Amino acid sequence: MASEPNSSLPAWRALTEHAASAGQLHLRELFARDGQRAANFRVEHGHWLLDLSRQRITAQTLALLFDLARAADLPARIAAMFRGDAINSTEGRAVLHTALRSSFAGPPDVQAEVRESRRRLTEFAAAVRRGELSGSTGRRFTQVVNIGIGGSDLGPLLVCESLRHEWSGGITPHFVSNVDRTQLEDLIRSVDPAETLIIVCSKTFTTLETQANAHAARDWIVGALGEEAVAAHFVAVSTNAAAMDAFGIAPQRRFTLWDWVGGRYSVWSAIGLVAELVIGSEKFEQFLAGASEFDRHFIEAPYERNLPVLMGVIGVWNRSFLNLPTLAVLPYDQRLARLAAYLQQLEMESNGKSVTLDGLAVGAATAPVMWGEPGSNGQHSFFQMLHQGTPSAALDFIAPLRGSWGGTLGQDLALRNCFAQTQALAFGLGLDEVKAEMAKAGTSSADIARLAPHRVYEGNRPNSLLLYPKTTARTLGNLLALYEHSVFVQGTLWGINSFDQFGVELGKKLASGISMTGDKPTAGPGAQGLAALIAYVARNR
Ligand code: F6P
Repeated sequence: MASEPNSSLPAWRALTEHAASAGQLHLRELFARDGQRAANFRVEHGHWLLDLSRQRITAQTLALLFDLARAADLPARIAAMFRGDAINSTEGRAVLHTALRSSFAGPPDVQAEVRESRRRLTEFAAAVRRGELSGSTGRRFTQVVNIGIGGSDLGPLLVCESLRHEWSGGITPHFVSNVDRTQLEDLIRSVDPAETLIIVCSKTFTTLETQANAHAARDWIVGALGEEAVAAHFVAVSTNAAAMDAFGIAPQRRFTLWDWVGGRYSVWSAIGLVAELVIGSEKFEQFLAGASEFDRHFIEAPYERNLPVLMGVIGVWNRSFLNLPTLAVLPYDQRLARLAAYLQQLEMESNGKSVTLDGLAVGAATAPVMWGEPGSNGQHSFFQMLHQGTPSAALDFIAPLRGSWGGTLGQDLALRNCFAQTQALAFGLGLDEVKAEMAKAGTSSADIARLAPHRVYEGNRPNSLLLYPKTTARTLGNLLALYEHSVFVQGTLWGINSFDQFGVELGKKLASGISMTGDKPTAGPGAQGLAALIAYVARNR
């Protein structure tokens, strides 16, 4: 057992002291002190630019954060992850999602299994896209439905939505995740079962929501096409062979993954099959290659130029030292509309922990609440709070230089908005400036006195800006790997296990003990309230 959490390290204490001094400087002051700040805090890698100049940091902040990273054994942890050590210590598992895309990650046997899996997936996708594999009536598949939840939904959904302009082959994706049956009912009313391929995506094949939706979809197919159609219309991605047997998934329609792939890190595996069917294997390989480029960069680049390390250490600085409770992710590209939902699981399921690897209290604030929307739309709703509300948030702006269709027309407007917001949030508008502007506009002194305080922008909202050429399979792979590694860096600095998720279990367990017909006795501290709720539902529906 380690005797102390990372928050007791001298490097942590040095940062606490530094936060009390340099951390209190306003961004206006930081820019005034350094005429080269924009250039000094800008890092380029490949086609990517990361602008950190509007983070509330100095060169010394970064040096101290790198000291903490080394004291927290970041170099050894990175090596251990890529080697395939069981760094998910609470579950005794390796963490090798990188092996799904990078030939330099994991041992040779893992690489061989990944190659074989890729071969089967490519063959299957090609056969479906060419119409060689068809439905039970011989009709070509034109619709593919992914039934899954959490990591078995959010990643494939993000890839399909972000790469809509790369769809080819005439296959339209659909996603069913919510247990309330709404998505399934909508689907049943809109697609022809004879042309529909259903992928049941569930690492465990026991997840309640996915099982309920998969069985309902099975009933739909059987009702429309007969029991024998199940083999032709269903595919499964899972580690659970016995459960796939019981469901009736044909052996040649099963794709596996491994216990070293966490759900929220699984889009690179067969869990991404729906996307591969929709964009084709060539584009899917580009997505994998994009992630691999950032794996290499994460391993090799010095910290000063290492994008995931920089984003990770700044995440810890903002959360644990500047006490910013949330991180808003604001893409200026409608294609990335689902990015925040994906990153929510990645960040909050990975680092939403309060004990260290050794079971001690972390002693610091960990994962921020991650949230967001496309920036252009957010500006007309929640940005009011970002500018003038409490508490203050950290922000990640993400913008491609060109629209996904290749043009610049609308994207120029989007970039203007994006750049304006980074400036406004960082520098704000002081009371004297507001008064001067109002006086210049001819406002009376009485109105200036009354209204000026409402028009003040405090600024000092720290933000990063990521620019890249265009949303493509490759740049999407870059972006997701960048955030994955940033999350890993943060987890390492906090000394926590970013790869388990025990926090989701209690709710699942309690739900399985509840009967809406009241035929299971309720027990435990909430029993009387629960019984009353169940009775209320029975009386009122
Ligand atoms: O309940 C959380 C979780 O286990 C996630 O970690 C996972 O992505 C999701 O459920 C779905 O799990 P499965 O793929 O096993 O159905």
